[in-house]
Amino acid sequence: MTRIGFAYNQKPDPIAAPAAELARADEEPPSSGAAATLVAPTTAPDDEYAEWDSAETIAAVERALARHGEVVRLEATDDFPQRLRDARPDIVFNIAEGLRGPNREAHVPAICEFYGIPYSGSDPFTLALCLDKARTKEILRAHDIPTADWWLVRSAGQLTALEARPHGFPLFAKPVHEGSSKGITERNVVAHAAALRPVVLELLERYQQPVLVETFLPGAEFTCGVLGNGAEARVLPLVGMNFDALPTGALPIYGFEAKWLWDRPDEPLPIFECPARITPALRAEIEQVVLRSYEALGCRDWARIDVRLDAAGRPTVVEVNPLPGILPDPSDNSCLPKAARAAGLDYDALIGACLQAAAARHGVPLEGGRA
Ligand SMILES: Nc1ncnc2c1ncn2[C@@H]1O[C@H](COP(=O)(O)OP(=O)(O)OP(=O)(O)O)[C@@H](O)[C@H]1O
Ligand SMILES: [Mg+2]
Repeated sequence: MTRIGFAYNQKPDPIAAPAAELARADEEPPSSGAAATLVAPTTAPDDEYAEWDSAETIAAVERALARHGEVVRLEATDDFPQRLRDARPDIVFNIAEGLRGPNREAHVPAICEFYGIPYSGSDPFTLALCLDKARTKEILRAHDIPTADWWLVRSAGQLTALEARPHGFPLFAKPVHEGSSKGITERNVVAHAAALRPVVLELLERYQQPVLVETFLPGAEFTCGVLGNGAEARVLPLVGMNFDALPTGALPIYGFEAKWLWDRPDEPLPIFECPARITPALRAEIEQVVLRSYEALGCRDWARIDVRLDAAGRPTVVEVNPLPGILPDPSDNSCLPKAARAAGLDYDALIGACLQAAAARHGVPLEGGRA
């Protein structure tokens, strides 16, 4: 029987974790339990473990993998290399977000490569690259794939030139190495020059990393799941963001408030529309930009790519997630599983499709045939 190693990072135990952390589910989580309110959090959210997975997600992935072989859990803690070496699985299914640093998502795949063990998903280079949103944009630009103009701000001194630009506002500021809406609230939409400095200084201080300042993309937003490789890579039904579902007066962005405060299991925010109701022409244009990005960045097996329309209505890549969030419960509004469901793939089939794509690349046989 095929031995499938399963690499993940589990969120801290509720008993050991402070209350603020318990309010958070894993990536793309809606379930904060906090009251819906238009008031942005007065203190920055404590979001250290926002990317890690919950016990429920880990159990659901394990169940899906078990249809294809014997699953060996390999939590990606500090003795992961030793346990991986001892377990010697035929393939590793990787959803580990990593422990620390800007290359954290690359660590597990790099260790698998070190031991010559096949693994699912993108390689260490692509995972590290896509966690650096500015470097990602450099590659996209080099391939002539639309992405908003940007400036990387490493220190307060670099703000002066940006503040002096009379045009070009609003801008959007965000930490260059984060995901799961870490550091992204309505405050990051910078309407005019005077508002830029406080926002950027706060992000520099809190996240201890450069801040990416971009042209604000005012148009519609879509998140686009991709499954497969090469000629078989396909874009799943697009998930459109319905910003009209946000509380009155909210800015049209999918940030911390929409993801963690305004979307609750008892009162889900009807922000997603899947498949997005758009013209076939726009859909084709978005799909082309998405598949070109997937290819240019070297994504493998699966990914989720965020796109917004610019002022001219042109699909523009916001960011690329080669390690997408995969909450199993449909009421959790997780976008990749949602897009897969719209394509007729339930959760097990989505996990199976990713595993199958990886196994096919490596010639690893699986039980249960093609997902
Ligand atoms: N240049 C921009 N113009 C307009 N809105 C933007 C821009 N960049 C980001 N946003 C808004 O902020 C949201 C979060 O940004 P982004 O996707 O880069 O962050 P993230 O935390 O990595 O997201 P994810 O949760 O998908 O990992 C986007 O979904 C979009 O609504
Ligand atoms: Mg995003």
